[in-house]
Amino acid sequence: MQLTRKQSEALNYLEDNSTNELLFGGAAAGGKSVLGCYWLLKSCLKFPGSRWLMGRSELKTLRESTLNTFFEVAKMQNIKSGSHYSFNQQLMSIRFVNGSEILLKDLFQYPSDPNFDSLGSIELTGVFVDECSQITEKAFNIVKSRIRYKLADFGLIPKILLTSNPSKNFLYTRFYKPFKEKTLPGNMKFIPALLTDNPNVTPHYRENLLQLDLISKERLLFGNWEYDGDKTALMTFDRITDIFSNSHNLGEMFISVDVARFGSDRTVIFVWNGLTVIEIITLEKKSVLDVSNEINRLKNNYNVPMSNIIADEDGVGGGIVDFVGCKGFVNNSMPVEVKGQKQNFSNLKSQCYFELADRINKGEISVKTEDIEVRNLLIQELEQVKRKDIDKDGKLAVIPKEKVKELIGRSPDYSDTLMMRMYFELNPQNEGVSIDLLSTMFH
Ligand SMILES: Nc1ncnc2c1ncn2[C@@H]1O[C@H](COP(=O)(O)OP(=O)(O)OP(=O)(O)O)[C@@H](O)[C@H]1O
Ligand SMILES: [Mg+2]
Repeated sequence: MQLTRKQSEALNYLEDNSTNELLFGGAAAGGKSVLGCYWLLKSCLKFPGSRWLMGRSELKTLRESTLNTFFEVAKMQNIKSGSHYSFNQQLMSIRFVNGSEILLKDLFQYPSDPNFDSLGSIELTGVFVDECSQITEKAFNIVKSRIRYKLADFGLIPKILLTSNPSKNFLYTRFYKPFKEKTLPGNMKFIPALLTDNPNVTPHYRENLLQLDLISKERLLFGNWEYDGDKTALMTFDRITDIFSNSHNLGEMFISVDVARFGSDRTVIFVWNGLTVIEIITLEKKSVLDVSNEINRLKNNYNVPMSNIIADEDGVGGGIVDFVGCKGFVNNSMPVEVKGQKQNFSNLKSQCYFELADRINKGEISVKTEDIEVRNLLIQELEQVKRKDIDKDGKLAVIPKEKVKELIGRSPDYSDTLMMRMYFELNPQNEGVSIDLLSTMFH
């Protein structure tokens, strides 16, 4: 077997002494799985007693697809099952006669094991994650942190090989975007490999890909990471991810709160300095009193004026608004007038989301958080802020919450909390008031 040109290029990075992370692929059938299997096989033979991880989000697909590729690659190399290595179905591991082994792991983040305790404290020599777009960034970080087994003995540095089709998740922000902008750090590499880079595939396969829908064709055949041709989205993906690195627009202090609806959702509280979120609090299953106390604590802590606090007033939120004495946000209420002008939105929520989108697109909003999970939730939710078909009255609206819930499988609590803050931008507190105050002072 001969590696393709792209696979050889990748193998060079996998064997150098500077690359720690390599993303390979970004289209269908570019030779991703073969590369990963070849690397693990070669490494196991070369470093007796080493331990490698072959991971994927589901054990079933790992076994049915990547593992089969491993058997094929081994066969092509004349490495024989039974004499050179053996696969243990119970332990899900491949053991070599020289003591090396490959552990097959499912890297799906189960709600019952959010910290991957099931991985125990295994130490690894290196990691290959196939179809990495299906795992979370947390899973990626956890396996990456386990790469230290006998590295010094073998004179190796930690390496992780990821393969993936184009996707809008952490691979996009971690590899693709910096790659495109030529800011990828020296220890990280991305090698795009398309179908056309792999001469070992029948021409029929290309015909099949050509039959796919527009977006799948863009992704899988042309390796296009900007496939999201959705013209109704109000914000671009790049602008959304920018909120975590934008410079801070500081000003008055504000608090916005999305209150849990009858136990199921969470309550999200954002503390703002101007247009910058400086603290994020997530509360699960708390009483109206607990939530109110938390808002009051933050209010006192950050010196936030009561008139700068807003909580959604629908459902349970009404109780919070009464308890705290803050402003209530009613999603379906009339849009506010801006500088005395009526606005053409179907309701206040749509008006605030359009305002938020505009400001995010201009790079004015920033969110300070190192919590990867919160970041990912927020990105996913903001991606779903889309224009709804112009309704009968010709008013602008965003797609309803029910639809968003269907798409992402949860309520968009974080993006709603950002959105509510816009109320104060559209309806500034001291407009008009200052004139009255001034006149009372002088009379
Ligand atoms: N170096 C090689 N020599 C011979 N055949 C190869 C080589 N690399 C890949 N192939 C063959 O090309 C086909 C696609 O390779 P592979 O499965 O690695 O691609 P992939 O990018 O993982 O595809 P998918 O997107 O379907 O997961 C397979 O049939 C594989 O056996
Ligand atoms: Mg594959």
